[in-house]
Amino acid sequence: MTLTGEDFTNNGRLLAWVDGAADLCKPDHIHWCDGSQEEYDRLCREMVEAGTLIKLNEQKRPDSYLARSDPYDVARVEDRTFICTEKAEDAGPTNNWADPSEMNHTLSGLFDGCMRGRTMYVCPFSMGPPGSPLSRIGVQITDSPYAVVNLRIMTRMGGRVLAALGARDFVRCLHSLGAPLQPGQKDVPWPCNESKYIVHFPKFRQVWSFGSGYGGNALLGKKCFALRIASAMARDEGWMAEHMLIVGLESPEGEKTYIAAAFPSACGKTNLAMLVPPAGFDGWKVYTVGDDIAWLKPGIEGGLRAINPETGFFGVAPGTSMASNPTAMRTLTRNCFFTNVALTDDGDVWWEGMDDDPPAHAIDWRGNDWTPESDSPAAHPNARFTAPASQCPSIDPDWEAPQGVPISAFIFGGRLSTTFPLVFQSFDWTHGVYLAATMGSEATAAAVGQAAIRRDPMAMLPFCGYNMADYWHHWLKMGNDIAQPPLIFRVNWFRKDENGKFMWPGFGDNLRVLKWIVDCVHNRAERVESPLGFMPRHQDLNWQGMDYDAETFYRLMAVDRQAGMAEAEDQKELFGRFGDRLPRELETQRRRLIKRLDRAPPVWELERQ
Ligand code: OXD
Ligand code: MN
Repeated sequence: MTLTGEDFTNNGRLLAWVDGAADLCKPDHIHWCDGSQEEYDRLCREMVEAGTLIKLNEQKRPDSYLARSDPYDVARVEDRTFICTEKAEDAGPTNNWADPSEMNHTLSGLFDGCMRGRTMYVCPFSMGPPGSPLSRIGVQITDSPYAVVNLRIMTRMGGRVLAALGARDFVRCLHSLGAPLQPGQKDVPWPCNESKYIVHFPKFRQVWSFGSGYGGNALLGKKCFALRIASAMARDEGWMAEHMLIVGLESPEGEKTYIAAAFPSACGKTNLAMLVPPAGFDGWKVYTVGDDIAWLKPGIEGGLRAINPETGFFGVAPGTSMASNPTAMRTLTRNCFFTNVALTDDGDVWWEGMDDDPPAHAIDWRGNDWTPESDSPAAHPNARFTAPASQCPSIDPDWEAPQGVPISAFIFGGRLSTTFPLVFQSFDWTHGVYLAATMGSEATAAAVGQAAIRRDPMAMLPFCGYNMADYWHHWLKMGNDIAQPPLIFRVNWFRKDENGKFMWPGFGDNLRVLKWIVDCVHNRAERVESPLGFMPRHQDLNWQGMDYDAETFYRLMAVDRQAGMAEAEDQKELFGRFGDRLPRELETQRRRLIKRLDRAPPVWELERQ
């Protein structure tokens, strides 16, 4: 018996939308996903038969699969990502704007018949735990079974979501690979289209994605919904959708403090979310709530509460190792997808940086023979794992708590080889918003002092679904609306010395910095005022188990007046792009920084204080 939409839901809006999508896309079949294990196993089996997935060695990596994408479909496509608002100013200068009616016309043409010869899957999903006032429901229609099985790891997906949805409205996510099959045409392992469109209509809470099967282009619950659409929902409804990890830090005395942290892509967010305490931190525990996205809302007790809307990790595989992130490695032992990593001769996976012992032979991400002598990497640099959060050894007991976890501090950090010290605290909320808004990261690690900074406000540059200046206004307003807003900090794990060597070891030792932040939260930290913000002295950090002398620490924390001035000057370009929409408070903060630097010695150092 073939089941129809009415067998799953009587939500008229959903039925009408699915009918309309089917009329447009013209699939051969429609399948409503129940999210069951049987359905998942069947889809995986079919993809193995079709050559899309390779089943990994059941002893070494149970219930796990490798996928190899088309070599031209390997990452998010920011230049093909559009925000469609009536007026271009509402998308703002940092987004690609497109006129909604013109884009509608383009999309209607592209989607017409785009699923011919394929099955259209209807996937209801919840971002956020059941019963949470912060959770929101979406439905993804897709012709990619790979997207379906990944979505089942990354979100709560399936029939139970329809019960929770009832007759209410939902976020519409329509996705097609853009690769219809003619009768008798043989499929390829990774269908996609050269032409790609990742399109958002924030006002209508809709995403249309065409032409890509990869990551954030295809798993629409993640960047498209949980950040771009959700940021617009959050502005309208008085909450926040942020590109942040969430960790809980528990002291040996059992005091638990949650922190949310925003870093641009490729700055080690997953590593920080799964940090393993260093030597000298006996009894400390670090719990993971999320590694990429936080939704935050004022709680009744006057602070800010956060949930991780996702249920999985879609992390970058290269560089992940037992040294850099043992917790991730332990999460990846089963029930995972690996995309664009290398396949070893014994049916397992490998990537650059996994260990110091590359296999003598493997099949690389393009499906070619590979040896350590090969000129190209075995895994694509943006190769990914998709792993269930529930099997992460450090997952927080409250990671699915409907009320969320209380956030006491926000951390913002980029990859900056010069100018910026290891850590400093903002003077207040408005100054913190300024520090977050002007955050940047180096695009390339070129010669010391010459790296170009890509401004990435709040690490939201590619993810804010509306005008970034309005988003800053929203941040400033939230500070007023929350009785006890989180403290705000900037960190920089990546400062280099005059020889180009990293000055800070990073990874587990970052807990030394986080502990000072926790001390600030609980009002027991010593702080010194610097031109940039409040700073710890050497004796304010716990150095047990680590040799890091005061002299080196003060160099790591030094503020160079000229470099600081150049930074303040450079921020003018960013602010200038927003014209009258820029919150005045931010320009005031920039001028105050210049004044403080003006009064500072050429090199401001902690020890002189
Ligand atoms: C991600 C990103 O994939 O931020 O999480 O690019
Ligand atoms: Mn991210």
